[in-house]
Amino acid sequence: MIHQPVLLEETINCLMGDPNGLYIDCTLGGGGHLKALIARLGEQARVIAIDRDIQILELCQEQLTDSRIRFVHGNFRDLSRIVEPEELGQVDGIMMDLGVSSFQLDQAHRGFSFHQEAELDMRMDKSSGLKAWDIINLCPEEELADIIYRLGEERYGRRIAGAIVKARNIKTIDTTLELVEIIKQAVPAHYRREKHPARRTFQAIRITVNDELGAIEEALPQAVEALKPGGKLAVITFHSLEDRMVKRFFSERTRNCICPPRQPVCTCGGQRAQLRLLNRRPITASEEESLSNHRARSAKLRVAQKI
Ligand SMILES: C[S@@+](CC[C@H](N)C(=O)[O-])C[C@H]1O[C@@H](n2cnc3c(N)ncnc32)[C@H](O)[C@@H]1O
Repeated sequence: MIHQPVLLEETINCLMGDPNGLYIDCTLGGGGHLKALIARLGEQARVIAIDRDIQILELCQEQLTDSRIRFVHGNFRDLSRIVEPEELGQVDGIMMDLGVSSFQLDQAHRGFSFHQEAELDMRMDKSSGLKAWDIINLCPEEELADIIYRLGEERYGRRIAGAIVKARNIKTIDTTLELVEIIKQAVPAHYRREKHPARRTFQAIRITVNDELGAIEEALPQAVEALKPGGKLAVITFHSLEDRMVKRFFSERTRNCICPPRQPVCTCGGQRAQLRLLNRRPITASEEESLSNHRARSAKLRVAQKI
């Protein structure tokens, strides 16, 4: 499994607190961040490593035999349930490195890649229900166009959705390369020459299948609750909607009152700030890293500390 971790040093440097503390890696993936973290921790430290992809989890578990790590197959949106009751409010650092890992993209049969023929699946957790096939073949055209436009930031979302519906009225769309061909035919020729024309649509479908934005939204407050005062939350995003969500959440939790500025009377119950930002602007990859790892180009790291 080869997954080149992004913003590795930056993330671990920001996250590190007590070397014998408790840490959570919410997105184990290839274990790159986890390995770097564990190398900096002492004998008494403990790390909970979570991934919703059982194959990834089992592979990492085989490679990383370390009694300090507790591996959990689960979704980080259930963080409060994954953390033991006595650990709540005791965590020194939590990291999330969102999106898919290279391992998932490389496994052709999972259907994440627009380069390889496979069934339309794209589930990170194979035990969960909805597949890419369901969205492509059953979603109403308007909704499909909205998904592709909003989550893929695809300017030809409407045209692509129209072409998908036209094709599926003749026969169901069953494989990744069938879908790629429909997208290619739907977009203008110049667009086909720029980047891969199916890139954004595949991203949108993957985000929907795995409800990636919903998981982040639910997980962030739970992460804050799990941290101890002084504990840190580091989130790496690759998508503008994800980043906006993290930025807005951090900004709300760093304010003492979240009422609109001109509102004469406070109605939010006088919320107290729970977080302090460690970096006002997100940390991005160096030119060197962006050149050697193209995923790093869109990565943004935001870190906040619990007050
Ligand atoms: C970008 S990779 C992480 C790479 C890892 N930091 C490394 O250095 O190798 C993201 C991983 O998070 C997992 N993942 C994504 N969303 C998740 C969620 N809601 N709960 C748990 N795991 C999730 C994916 O299955 C994938 O393996």
